[in-house]
Formats: sequence, C-alpha cells, structure tokens
Amino acid sequence: MRTVQFSSVGDPSVLEVAEGVAPEPGPGQVSLDVSHAGVNFAEVMFRRGQFPVDLPHRPGLEAAGTVRALGEGVTGLSAGQPVAALTLAGGGQADVAIAPAEHVVPLDGTLAGLDPALAAGALANVATAYGVLTSAGRLAPGETVVVLAAAGGVGTAAAQLARRLGARAVIGAASTPAKAGYAARFGYDAVVGYEELAAEIDRRTDGAGADLVLDSVGGAYRERITPMLGLFGRHVIFGNAAQDDVSFEGNHVWYHSSSLTGYNLGGVAHRAPALLRDYLESALASVAGGSVSVDLTVLPIQDVAKIHELLESRASTGKYVLDLRR
Ligand SMILES: NC(=O)c1ccc[n+]([C@@H]2O[C@H](COP(=O)([O-])OP(=O)(O)OC[C@H]3O[C@@H](n4cnc5c(N)ncnc54)[C@H](OP(=O)(O)O)[C@@H]3O)[C@@H](O)[C@H]2O)c1
Repeated sequence: MRTVQFSSVGDPSVLEVAEGVAPEPGPGQVSLDVSHAGVNFAEVMFRRGQFPVDLPHRPGLEAAGTVRALGEGVTGLSAGQPVAALTLAGGGQADVAIAPAEHVVPLDGTLAGLDPALAAGALANVATAYGVLTSAGRLAPGETVVVLAAAGGVGTAAAQLARRLGARAVIGAASTPAKAGYAARFGYDAVVGYEELAAEIDRRTDGAGADLVLDSVGGAYRERITPMLGLFGRHVIFGNAAQDDVSFEGNHVWYHSSSLTGYNLGGVAHRAPALLRDYLESALASVAGGSVSVDLTVLPIQDVAKIHELLESRASTGKYVLDLRR
C-alpha cells in the first residue's frame, strides 16, 4: 500500500510516497479503498511544524473510495459501498485509509453517482465553510460577508454558500489580481487586493462596515479587521496561514461593539459529532445538487509535494485532490 508520509518537519521535500502495511479498522472504524484524497492547507501546517504531530506522520484529512472492511460494532455500511470520509487522525492520502464510522458518508440516495474526486475535495472545505458561516458566524439574510483567501478551497465554497444563505453582499480579498479574477466566478460581488479591502467594504456598505469577516489568514492583517466591521460585526478566526498570530485585549471587542469568534473542525468533531455530520452531509448535498461548485485540480499521489509548494507559496487556486488510481 502506498501512503504519503513525512518523517521530519520541513519544506515540501520531506514528503515521500512510502510503502506501508494496509491498516485494519478497530472498533467503530471503517477502512476504505481510497480512489481520491483531498489536500488541505492544514497538512502544510503539520508538515512545516506549525502544529506538532507524531512522526512519522501520514497526512490526509479526507478521502473517497469504497468500503474495504468494517471494524467491530459498525453497522449500516457494507464492503464495496461508495463512500466519502473525514480521516481527521490523518492517513487519508493512502491506498487504504481508516475513518471513524460517524465520519463516513455513503454516496447513495441523492449522492449516488457523485464523482469521488469531487466528494473527496468537498468534504473538509465545504463543511468548514458551512460551519464558519452558520454556527460560528451566525450569518443572517441581508448581511455583508467578507472572505479572506477568497480564491482558495474554503474561500470559493464560502462565497457560494454565503450567497445561498442570503448574504446581501460577498466581498473577497486575494493576494494577486490573477487570483482575484479567478475567485470572481464563485459568487463574489467583488474581489480585491488586501490593501483595497477596507475601501471596498466602505463603498459597498455606505460606510456601515461588514457583518462577518472570515479570517483564515492571521498575521499582521488580523489586526486590521476590527475597523472593517459594522456594529455587532463578527470576526471569525479559523486559521493562521501567515504563521503569525496577534494578541487582542478584552476591551477591544467592548470598544468596537463587535465579536471575535472561532471555528475548529477537529473540535466540532469531538464535541458535537451530530453537528459535524450535518455539515458533511450538507456539503456533499450542495456539490451533488450543483449549488456549490468546486474547481478541482486532480493530480497523482507523486505530485503531493508540488501541491504543498503551490499552497504554501500562495500560488494555488481552488481545490487539489490526489488520484490514487494512477
Ligand atoms: N479551522 C478549521 O477547522 C479549518 C478547516 C479547514 C481549513 N481551515 C483553514 O482555512 C484556510 C483555507 O484552507 P484551504 O485548504 O482551503 O487553503 P487555501 O485557501 O486553498 O490556501 C490558503 C490560502 O491562504 C492565503 N494566505 C494568506 N497568507 C498566506 C501565507 N502567509 N502563506 C500561505 N497562504 C497564505 C493564500 O491566499 P491569498 O494568496 O489569496 O492570500 C492561500 O492561497 C487555511 O488557512 C486552513 O488552515 C481551517
């Protein structure tokens, strides 16, 4: 069995495609014969040591394929059944992956025939966009939403979902004009450079400010969000691509009548499994139904380091998926 793996943290060259023994599912788990596996920015953070992981580490947080075997106590699934699954413990980017049964979504009913590349590519990003906009961001119809990293996997999904959830205006920020142009086709009213964002929000809201800012970027830019928020606006923090956090004082939200809120997929999985399940099913239903489109770049497993390079250098757009059948 092939698996993506790294034995030390560092640049993308630490990634290798190694041979390993196919894992067996434990109680409550399911093993999958993986056809496709998504690549997420979180794996860049694990690989570069931004979050500690046990080494060697096998990355991969989402996969699609067919059920290979069921662990003790698992019911309602059968071998050979097409499924998509979150593999939050890692190991999704392998020929065989393990997932807890509650994170395995059968591709049947209205999801029957869903392209497994799309299922693997939609699971984490679209579910995150759902959670960030609804549970964390409390988006209400008629509100103005701002999305940083607008051209990325989560960003392109968030714009489309925000629109569907009734946002009045959706404004994105991206680091280059090419990325802004790319993002514009995903339902944004405008996508601008980070330096132009404050003025664009001002213009689109007649100076009232944004209701919701989705911030996965962090760094110095994080400190510039508050003045962009309207009364009772929410700044949702759900990532730190810049590898540089900032500190806020409690008085900060008092003075500005605004909120800082956060979202962590792993935490939701642990503390509210039924809610996560809801996000996963909604995510797959929206891509199957065509209301959220995901722009996939599908590459062979050997290209995993190339994808990390694109993500880390801010040269990526949309979503990257590994095809394990190649
Ligand atoms: N909290 C959660 O549960 C959760 C779940 C999923 C994803 N996330 C987070 O959501 C974000 C989006 O994930 P994704 O997989 O869809 O990635 P992505 O958006 O496709 O790629 C990350 C983007 O972040 C932007 N960025 C800003 N500063 C950067 C920097 N210093 N280095 C690299 N990139 C930078 C880049 O866009 P520009 O160049 O246009 O700025 C880059 O394209 C990530 O930060 C990820 O960690 C969080």
